Amino acid sequence: MKYDMIEVTQEGAVKTIRLDRPKALNALCTPMMKEIAHALSTAQDDSSIGCVILTGSEKAFAAGADIKEMQDNNYISIYKSDDFANYHDAPSRFRKPLIAAVSGYALGGGCELAMMCDFIIASETAKFGQPEINLAVMPGIGGTQRLTRAIGKSKAMDMCLTGRMMDADEAERAGLVSRVVPQDELMPTALDAASKIAAQSQPIAMMTKETLNAAFEMPLAQGLKFERRLFQSMFTTEDQKEGMSAFVEKRTPHFKNK
Ligand code: CAA
Repeated sequence: MKYDMIEVTQEGAVKTIRLDRPKALNALCTPMMKEIAHALSTAQDDSSIGCVILTGSEKAFAAGADIKEMQDNNYISIYKSDDFANYHDAPSRFRKPLIAAVSGYALGGGCELAMMCDFIIASETAKFGQPEINLAVMPGIGGTQRLTRAIGKSKAMDMCLTGRMMDADEAERAGLVSRVVPQDELMPTALDAASKIAAQSQPIAMMTKETLNAAFEMPLAQGLKFERRLFQSMFTTEDQKEGMSAFVEKRTPHFKNK
C-alpha cells in the first residue's frame, strides 16, 4: 500500500510511523487512520519488527480527529460507518509494544491516539488536551475512559469539562507520560527505548503488554491469576531457558522468539 499521509521508516527491529499531514496539524482523518492501521498490521505480521514508534511533527503529534471531515455527519451516518471503532481505535488492538513520541499538540483524538500506545514519551513542548467540549461534543475515541484511568477522575474531569491543555511537566506529574525530554532528544530517546524492547523476546514482550493491559479490564484476583498463568507458560519457551542461562553464565542472551 502506498502511503500519502504517513511516513514509515525502519531502523533495525524498530518501525517508526510518522504522521505527515502538516497542513492540518496531523488531524486524524479516516484515510490517515486506515494507513496507520495498515502499517501496524504489516508490522504485526513482520517477525523482524519488535517495537513500533508512533510520532508526529515538532508542532503537532495530532490536533484531533478531523473536524472538517466530521462536521456534516448525522447520527445514522456516523453510527453506520463506525470509523472510530474500525480505524481510529485500531492502534489499541496492536499486539506488539507501541510507543508514542509526542511533540507539540496532542489534542482530542491526538491525545486519545497517544493513550492507545503502551507508553508516551513527551518532548518539553508537548501539550495534551481533550478540547472537544468547545465543539459541543465530547471525546469519542476513548478519552473519557483512558484519560480517567491514566490520571484519575478529578484531573480527567477538569480536562474534559474545561477543555484546557496540560503541558508536558503536568502530564508527567499526572502519570499520563512516562518521561519528558528536550525536543531534540525525543526521537533518540524513543528509538533507544524501542530498540531495548525490540531486543527482548518478542512473545514475552507481547505477553507482558497483554498482562499489563488486563489490569484495566479485570478484578485484582482474576488479574493476578492471569499474570501467574502467563508467567508459568513462559517456562515452556526456549527464550526463558536462554535468558536465565545467559544470566547465570554472565553473557548476553540471544533470543529466538520461540
Ligand atoms: N481537524 C481539522 N483541521 C484541523 C484540526 C482538526 N482537529 N486542527 C487544526 N486543523 C487545521 C486548521 O483548520 C488549519 O487549517 P487551515 O489552514 O486550512 O485553516 C490548520 O490545521 C492549522 O491550524 P490553526 O491555524 O488553527 O493553527 P494554530 O497554530 O493557530 O492552532 C491549535 C493550533 C490550537 C491546535 C488549533 O488548530 C486547534 O484548536 N485545533 C483543534 C483542536 C481540537 O479541537 N481538537 C479536537 C478535535 S475533535 C476530536 O478529536 C473528537 C474525538 O475525540 C474523536
